Amino acid sequence: MDYGLSDEQLALQETARRFAESEIAPVAAKYDESGEFPRDIIKKAYELGLTPTVIPEEYGGVDLSILDSCLIVEELAWGCAGMATSIMANDLGLMPILVAGTHDQKKEWLGLVAGDFKLVCFCLSEPNAGSDVAGMQLLAEKDGDDYVLNGTKCWITNGGEADVFTVFATLDRSSRHKGVCAFVLHKDMPGLAPGKKEDKMGQRASDTRVIHFDNVRVPVSQRLGAEGEGFKIAMQTLDRTRPPIGALATGIARRALHESTAYAKERKAFGFPIGGFQAVQFLLADMAKDIEAGRLLTHKSAWMVDNGLRASKSSSIAKCFATDAAMRITTDAVQIFGGNGYTKEYPVEKLMRDAKLMQIYEGTNQIQRLVIARELLKE
Ligand code: CAA
Repeated sequence: MDYGLSDEQLALQETARRFAESEIAPVAAKYDESGEFPRDIIKKAYELGLTPTVIPEEYGGVDLSILDSCLIVEELAWGCAGMATSIMANDLGLMPILVAGTHDQKKEWLGLVAGDFKLVCFCLSEPNAGSDVAGMQLLAEKDGDDYVLNGTKCWITNGGEADVFTVFATLDRSSRHKGVCAFVLHKDMPGLAPGKKEDKMGQRASDTRVIHFDNVRVPVSQRLGAEGEGFKIAMQTLDRTRPPIGALATGIARRALHESTAYAKERKAFGFPIGGFQAVQFLLADMAKDIEAGRLLTHKSAWMVDNGLRASKSSSIAKCFATDAAMRITTDAVQIFGGNGYTKEYPVEKLMRDAKLMQIYEGTNQIQRLVIARELLKE
């Protein structure tokens, strides 16, 4: 077992770290306040080769592994979780094309995204089908050589900014998962319209939208995989993208520990720095051990994906553990800061708000536990 990173991985991590420190962290509070989308910053991440990470070299991409993308996203999330989410959503949106696209589809769509700065989104959730993917209502009706899509998706990261949309729709609402198809769409297709931007509690720099589909005509050539394979394509996508979500949460948690240790050395109570008290030391120690454990689980699940192993259980364990840990750690960071931590003068309340979303998106942590339990019972 080798816990070391290669020279290339260390260099990549350093690039992402410097970018987070110099370009992201200084403006994170500003974007959190305004809720604007930091397109220029995300474009710089693209120019540095930090997004998208998953496009193979033969289609013009940087061809990084899932472990590499975990290294990048942990650093970016240290700077701002909302920006890290906007960046990671690119890989999430591209993954169904990698999982199920033909060579020609990959050439066209991955080539389009690799060739110039473009954003991508993954349209799976619906107003009445978040955890229950098979209950989706977005209808795809066959009409000659096209499918006609009607319905609504929601909670779509990058929804108002993306050029390319991967979309899941059903041919027949009564056949549940067996009726689901995956498609790839361009933002300019008539009838596709991003709707209301959500006014979120945290991760406010990310753009989260409803997307409306009103008679959107999609040629058969834009269907990914066979009819009825869409559900499995979505699940295989999430198996691959949940490790980076664990890494994103680890980045938020690491920032909370960083801020907390600095504050514990400086803030005095009863005449001493509060870091001298065991009550605070134990909180810091628990933060450090959970960050370490979350990172190891995340890297292990990424390694499994990179080595072609089925990683459903491992990815769900990593996502669930690291995101629950981030919630505990950021809450404890606010506790260490006391009243100051509850104000916007200090950075930890943002971390706590940002961490909450990690337990909800890419499958709630209740769904992760369900996936873990089902896999255990299958074994
Ligand atoms: N890989 C391959 N096949 C899989 C699979 C996987 N990981 N998981 C399930 N399948 C297969 C099953 O074997 C079964 O196949 P057969 O029909 O051949 O038997 C089929 O798919 C149906 O599986 P289930 O019976 O397990 O399906 P279910 O309806 O009970 O649902 C679920 C399973 C795990 C609850 C699923 O609906 C799920 O993952 N829900 C959560 C959705 C989610 O994570 N959404 C996140 C949206 S993206 C987002 O949030 C990102 C963002 O904006 C940043």
